[in-house]
Amino acid sequence: MTAPPGLGAVHAAVGRYYTGCLRRHGATPLGVDWRCLPTQQLRFARLLQLVESWDGVSINDLGCGYGALLDFLAERHDPAGIDYCGADLSAAMIRRARRRWPRHAFRIGATPGRVADYGLASGLFNVRLDHPEPLWEVFIRDTLGILHATSRRGFAVNFMLPRADGQPGREGLYRTRPEPWIRHCETAFGADVTLASGDGLGEFTLLVRRPPAPP
Ligand SMILES: C[S@@+](CC[C@H](N)C(=O)[O-])C[C@H]1O[C@@H](n2cnc3c(N)ncnc32)[C@H](O)[C@@H]1O
Repeated sequence: MTAPPGLGAVHAAVGRYYTGCLRRHGATPLGVDWRCLPTQQLRFARLLQLVESWDGVSINDLGCGYGALLDFLAERHDPAGIDYCGADLSAAMIRRARRRWPRHAFRIGATPGRVADYGLASGLFNVRLDHPEPLWEVFIRDTLGILHATSRRGFAVNFMLPRADGQPGREGLYRTRPEPWIRHCETAFGADVTLASGDGLGEFTLLVRRPPAPP
């Protein structure tokens, strides 16, 4: 899959940014620009609400970082029983993830390169860097398209909400109301979209289910 014009540079900048986080903080929540482990894991719990059955499930983890989702899953399920593939734009993240989880599949890039039951993506859209918002929204639409194309049953993603005090906050972050992205997933993918929010994180999660194929 080739990225639309302009997105190659966006992918490269995002990869460099997160490689820098990893160099500074190692395989820790700060190393993927999260504040702490409990909130990183709360996001995983929200995204995993999408999974209806764990029996023989396959999961693509887009923007997998150093593979923290596998740590979370391993506390709850036998990791050997989960058909998992992680992908990330940062080659350094993927090297670290492979060292941490040598029996699982990882791939450098913006696509998992295979179809799985579910696609999960935590934290991909928050740090816009200095990209203009319209270009960043092209990046989001392209990434959602990849998640849809590579997920048999559905995918889950999260976004930051506008700040409750109405202030712009830290520069270079992307904040949005849920409605435009719910509408996008409904119209572009014909999906059933469930909104999960209200956990005090100032974020929301979309659970985007593919409707069953007609008989
Ligand atoms: C905030 S970090 C979160 C990492 C991991 N999901 C977690 O929660 O621990 C976002 C990660 O997504 C990667 N990323 C961002 N956009 C991506 C894309 N379109 N395709 C693949 N990886 C992406 C970044 O390189 C970074 O490692």
